Amino acid sequence: MRTLIREIITKEGETVVLEGWVRNRRDHGKLIFIDIKDRSGMAQVVFLPKPEEVHEAATELRSEWVVRLTGKVNKRPENMVNADQEFGAYEIVAEGLEILNKAEDLPIPIDTDGREISEEARMKYRAFDLRRERMEKNMKMRAKVVHFFRSFLSDLDFIEVETPILGKATPEGSRDYLVPSRIYPGKCYALPQSPQQYKQLLMVAGLERYFQIARCFRDEDTRGDRQPEFTQLDMEMSFVKREDVMKVVEDMLIKLVQTHYPEKRIQQIPFPHITYKESMEKYGNDRPDIREDKNDPNLLAFCWVLDFPFFEKDEEDGGWTFTHNPFSAPQPEFMESLMNKENIADILTTQYDIVLNGYEIGGGSIRNHRPEALRKVLEIMGFSDEKIQSDYGHMLDAFKLGAPPHGGIAPGVDRIVMILQGEPNIREVIAFPKTGDGRDLMMEAPTEFTEKQLSELQIKIDKKK
Ligand code: AMO
Repeated sequence: MRTLIREIITKEGETVVLEGWVRNRRDHGKLIFIDIKDRSGMAQVVFLPKPEEVHEAATELRSEWVVRLTGKVNKRPENMVNADQEFGAYEIVAEGLEILNKAEDLPIPIDTDGREISEEARMKYRAFDLRRERMEKNMKMRAKVVHFFRSFLSDLDFIEVETPILGKATPEGSRDYLVPSRIYPGKCYALPQSPQQYKQLLMVAGLERYFQIARCFRDEDTRGDRQPEFTQLDMEMSFVKREDVMKVVEDMLIKLVQTHYPEKRIQQIPFPHITYKESMEKYGNDRPDIREDKNDPNLLAFCWVLDFPFFEKDEEDGGWTFTHNPFSAPQPEFMESLMNKENIADILTTQYDIVLNGYEIGGGSIRNHRPEALRKVLEIMGFSDEKIQSDYGHMLDAFKLGAPPHGGIAPGVDRIVMILQGEPNIREVIAFPKTGDGRDLMMEAPTEFTEKQLSELQIKIDKKK
């Protein structure tokens, strides 16, 4: 039976079977040393001149070969303990060796942090790139963060619900990814930019508290903190004011840091509130970096940004457009202006953004749960009755059936993990991200349609464009 490396500390003097990867082979002729690595850690193995056939096989070993190894667990003498390794007080004296797979010439080094290697090469060999220690840590910590969110919210009565990936466009201010329908030629599904409408419909359904680790898709230019597909911790609650939603998120983030990043210091608790206006005037943007000391990698400066204008002038057509979310409610004192469609530029939204060290890590709002208020927003944006009915009719209809007051938020999981892991880029905390120009170099996506697919979908490609 296989023993995990972390278990060897309880098996002194016993013969164990280890399976894993070869690292750091050192051949001293009579004695050959390797490190063996599995998911639980690394241990040193020594091959003595005997048994001969085992020693002989070990001369062949190279880095990253996969082996099954039988050996006796020994405690190393005090002066031989390897203080750099977690299990450096032990070593395995090899008795048997089976090579399960060889590794050919390694395309990129993985014994470094990888920052010196080109992105092209790292992404092409991503499965291998993820084997480096830094990436392994990022993947493990990301899983811990997500697990923490799940249990924190489940304990507060939130229900986890999966919503469709194939759906209808939800406006989040970006371009949709479209999936052509074979059964309805000329029609398409849209991948969700966020589960916004579904989560509001779940409030109509009476769930009261919803969350989802939700994959979102936005066809926009990629940059360090932006990927075409990314993950939100999407949440929605009924019978709440914005302070209630903000409190759940604030408590959750504080507890996350205390539980999994105790070495980090939160600059200010409760998180300070900054108005949009103040942020623009003082910091020139709406995601202010308020850190007292920007050289301190363990400092976390959270803040809330509030009091955004609801509408702004659309640069293209000169009409009004929403700044954040068309489903948001105005702050209560501006409800009358909204209903009368007056002083539109002055209307403030209930939107709250949460910012960490200069990154927007989440945003949300209280929603318009009364259909006439949502309709006014859509009218202010200049939508015709026809468009309102076709694009938003299902929401307006649902709100006529006893919709509770509700609001929510969606923290961005990738950005949160990026900052907590001290990474400069969300690609470092996503297993298989797209490159800066939106490609998957390992799978070589996107790919061309085949003739058969095009004909089934009744699509013709205009190659001239
Ligand atoms: P919003 O569009 O502000 O709100 O998105 C919420 C959070 O998601 C993260 N995020 C991204 N992360 C990586 N790559 C991207 N392309 C990307 N786009 C957004 C950010 C952002 O703060 N439905 C609303 C939420 C709500 O109102 O409840 C929404 O999606 O961290």
